[in-house]
Amino acid sequence: MYSSSIFDTFSPQEPQRAPIGVFDSGVGGLTVLRQIYQQLPNESIIYVGDTARLPYGIRSQTEILQFVREILHWMQQQQVKMAIMACNTSSALALDIVRQEFNFPILGVILPGARAAVQQGQRIGVIATPATAQSNAYRQAILEIQSNVQVWQVSCPEFVPLIEQNRIHDPYTMEIAKTYLEPLIQKEIDTLVYGCTHYPLLSPILRSLLPQQVQLIDPAVHVAAACSQELDLLGIKNTHPPLPTRFAVSGCSQQFTQSSLQWLGYTPMVEQVCFADTVLS
Ligand code: DGL
Repeated sequence: MYSSSIFDTFSPQEPQRAPIGVFDSGVGGLTVLRQIYQQLPNESIIYVGDTARLPYGIRSQTEILQFVREILHWMQQQQVKMAIMACNTSSALALDIVRQEFNFPILGVILPGARAAVQQGQRIGVIATPATAQSNAYRQAILEIQSNVQVWQVSCPEFVPLIEQNRIHDPYTMEIAKTYLEPLIQKEIDTLVYGCTHYPLLSPILRSLLPQQVQLIDPAVHVAAACSQELDLLGIKNTHPPLPTRFAVSGCSQQFTQSSLQWLGYTPMVEQVCFADTVLS
């Protein structure tokens, strides 16, 4: 019988049973995890939150590349069959480079988000971390798919720390959200992309500030769909019952357990891992 021990190894004869690695700096990637639960209920998941080093959105590309390589290397040791960067900052700054370095497919959130955005609107706003906004990754991806739309990107440096501190319903969060959205409302956007996986957690606040006709795009929905397609294409979609999700964080495991409970609806078992200790080959 198949056991759910975290020390299981996955038989090369049954690659479909291997887990999918999902990572973010913190709780933001849980928005992607929730979509995977909905759309791919048979997949076993290893979730990584690099909480000791968040926020990623104010880091340099060199730092992000190093962190992402360490996490992916660790995931390789856990024998993942695929990895999802449930983090826009990593997808913007590291995906194209690290994709060549690992022997499993790696998906990012930006292309699925950009594809969904152009299907919705013509005047597209993107809210993102400073690093993602500065990289221009969304503008480039959107204009490559459809050149006749307009794109405005706004950097929102305060959102991730506020979300990680669980200050979502704090009046200050509403004030700062107003400031970030104001220039996009002025431009009369018809579509707003959550350019950071943390931001769907702010959706009640953001929705209350935006004109009703503005469509919200959550790339998490679309990366889960892309993951499903990729698994089908590769013939590695799991049809067996999944293992319980394994959570590994680089910071305080207790804190992650507490803050993720409200987003997951269950209390996760969280282990602490030092990804920087991963030996790079
Ligand atoms: N949730 C991540 C993103 O989508 C990282 C946020 C951060 O750590 O700054 O960009």
